[in-house]
Amino acid sequence: MSFNVLSNCRAEIRVLIPGAGLGRIVYDVLRAGYEVQGNELEFCMLMASNLALNMYLLQTRLSTNFRLDPERAYELYPYIHTMSHHRSTQDVVRCVSIPDTSAGKGMRLSGTKAEMSMVAGDFIDCYSSPSDAGTFSVVITIFFIDTAPNVLQYLETIYNVLEPNGVWINIGPLAWHFEPDSESTPPRTGGTIELTLEELLSATQKIGFVLETGENLTQKSISMPYMGNNRGLLTYLYHTEFWVARKT
Ligand SMILES: C[S@@+](CC[C@H](N)C(=O)[O-])C[C@H]1O[C@@H](n2cnc3c(N)ncnc32)[C@H](O)[C@@H]1O
Repeated sequence: MSFNVLSNCRAEIRVLIPGAGLGRIVYDVLRAGYEVQGNELEFCMLMASNLALNMYLLQTRLSTNFRLDPERAYELYPYIHTMSHHRSTQDVVRCVSIPDTSAGKGMRLSGTKAEMSMVAGDFIDCYSSPSDAGTFSVVITIFFIDTAPNVLQYLETIYNVLEPNGVWINIGPLAWHFEPDSESTPPRTGGTIELTLEELLSATQKIGFVLETGENLTQKSISMPYMGNNRGLLTYLYHTEFWVARKT
């Protein structure tokens, strides 16, 4: 992630993370010293990321009775509701801490002076205007681009917000969220566009990106689970695609 950027220059580099979800990558990029803006559509995600990211800040503002302990995470038991795919009783009743690290402590240790913000709303609505053009050096999309009904609009929006020579980093599958299910879902008004990886990369280059090559940059497949139970007997594995593309 560092791209050999000197740590004292990183706060001047603006990174945008659309589809930020629970905000973990926002936090990691901030801790690395970059100025970062997350963007998220769903309120449930925004509420959860607000809780995780602002826990430390909140406790200094709330009255004593309602204070959260910034060094202590919430304890959840997400596996107690089903009995399938477990190896042991201990696995069923095990606790998961949210967040898995203290945001406040992490920030203090990192010593970052960079700023973080979160924009609520649809990525295209929030970043397609001429006033958004060239406002970010880097866009990072993780398990995001396949959430588009029309991925070409996502590509255009990413291109719009990047400054010349800006970089788009992507990792994720192509599980097109709006692809009509011929059995049950009526077609979406206005239609949808689903592309193969080959078609998507071709469109990316036609819009004006150049795929970067070099150590750790070349487009490649990386297999990984997503939201799975890492101790369970069942794992869905995505053969995700990673690439770094530069705006020309
Ligand atoms: C599969 S999740 C990935 C979340 C996160 N990037 C991660 O890796 O954990 C996709 C996220 O994109 C958000 N999303 C979907 N469509 C969006 C849109 N048009 N604008 C902004 N966020 C969107 C969803 O609410 C969801 O949080």
